[in-house]
Amino acid sequence: MSDLDQLQRDLLAAIGSADLAGLEDIRVSALGKSGSVTGLLKTLGGMSPEERQTTGPRIHALREAVTEALTGRKAGLEREALDARLAGETLDMTLPVDVPAAGTVHPVSQVMDELAEIFADLGFAVATGPEIEDDWHNFTALNIPESHPARAMHDTFYLPDQPDGERKMLLRTHTSPVQIRTMVDQQPPIRIIAPGRTYRSDSDATHTPMFHQVEGLVIDKGITLGHLKWTLETFLKAYFERDDIVLRLRPSYFPFTEPSAEVDVGYTIQNGKRAIGGSDHWMEVLGSGMVHPKVIAACGLDPDEWQGFAFGCGIDRLAMLKYGMDDLRAFFDGDIRWLKHYGFAALDVPTLSGGVGA
Ligand code: DAH
Repeated sequence: MSDLDQLQRDLLAAIGSADLAGLEDIRVSALGKSGSVTGLLKTLGGMSPEERQTTGPRIHALREAVTEALTGRKAGLEREALDARLAGETLDMTLPVDVPAAGTVHPVSQVMDELAEIFADLGFAVATGPEIEDDWHNFTALNIPESHPARAMHDTFYLPDQPDGERKMLLRTHTSPVQIRTMVDQQPPIRIIAPGRTYRSDSDATHTPMFHQVEGLVIDKGITLGHLKWTLETFLKAYFERDDIVLRLRPSYFPFTEPSAEVDVGYTIQNGKRAIGGSDHWMEVLGSGMVHPKVIAACGLDPDEWQGFAFGCGIDRLAMLKYGMDDLRAFFDGDIRWLKHYGFAALDVPTLSGGVGA
C-alpha cells in the first residue's frame, strides 16, 4: 500500500472516532498551514510533469476525501448533540405545576377586590371613569367653579391646551367625577363604588403623585345621613374584620356635599402599635356628605325628587391601616422584596364568608 493510501486510511479512521474538539485538531494537522496533506500538495511544485500527472490527482483526491469526511462527521456529531439536547429538554405538559407562583397581588389590588366584595354584598355596582378627565367632570359639575379655591388645593396636573381650545383636560384629582358620569348616564336608584387611580402634584411619606381612591354614591328617594352612617359603619366593620369599630362624623366642608362630614375611626394603642377599634384615639379615614342639590341638578336630575350621599376614601391609606405598612412611597417602588412581603397569593380571592382579607 502506498504512503498516500496509508495516510488516507489513518486520517479517515481518526475522523471516524473523533469528537467535535478532536475533529478540529485533525483538520489542523491535515489541512492546516503545516498540515500533512497541505505538505503533500506543496511537493507538487517540485515534481516532474509526468510525476505530477499521476501523483497530483491522488493528492487532490486525498484532500477531497479528508475534507468530506471531516464535514460529514461534524454534521453527524452536531445532529446527535442537538437530538440529545431536545430529548433532555422535553416538557411533559400534562404534569401538574409544582413550582410555587412567584408573583403576588399588590395590596392595593387586593384592597380594591375587598371593597368590591364588601359593597357588592350591600347592593353596590363597581363604576369606572377615565383617568384623563375634563375640567367639567372633575370640578365644575361638582360645584367647584373656575374661581373656587378648592381648585388650587387639588394641585392639579393639567394637560396642554387642546388645539380647538375646547375642553380643558387634566389627570383626575379624585374619583368624584365618576359620580357625575354615573348620574349623567344612569337613572336612579344608583348605588356604586368607583375605585381607581387619581393624581396630584404632591410627594412625601404619605403622598405620591399617583394614588388610589374609592368613591361611593347612592342616589334614591328619601336618603338621609343615617343611611350614610350605617353604610360606612357596615363597610368599615367588614373591611377591618372587627365589630368594635366606632365612627365619629365631624362637620366639614366639601363643595359637592351639603351637609359634609369628615369621618374618623377610633383606634387604640396596643404594644405601641395602632389597632383599629375602640375610641381612645381618632383618625380621619374619609370624606362624605349628602350630595349637593346643585351637583344632582348639574347631572340633569331633579334634586327635589332625588337625594343621596357620597363618600371618598384613600385606598392606599386603607391598605396601610389594615396591613401595617408605614411609607406610602414603597407602594409604587416596584421593589420585589416589598411585594413578596406584603403581596397576596394569586388565588387569595377575598370573600365575605372567608373573612374579607383572609
Ligand atoms: N373627592 C374628595 C377628595 O378627593 C373626597 C370626597 C369627600 C369624596 C366627600 C366625596 C365626598 O364623595 O362626599 O378629597
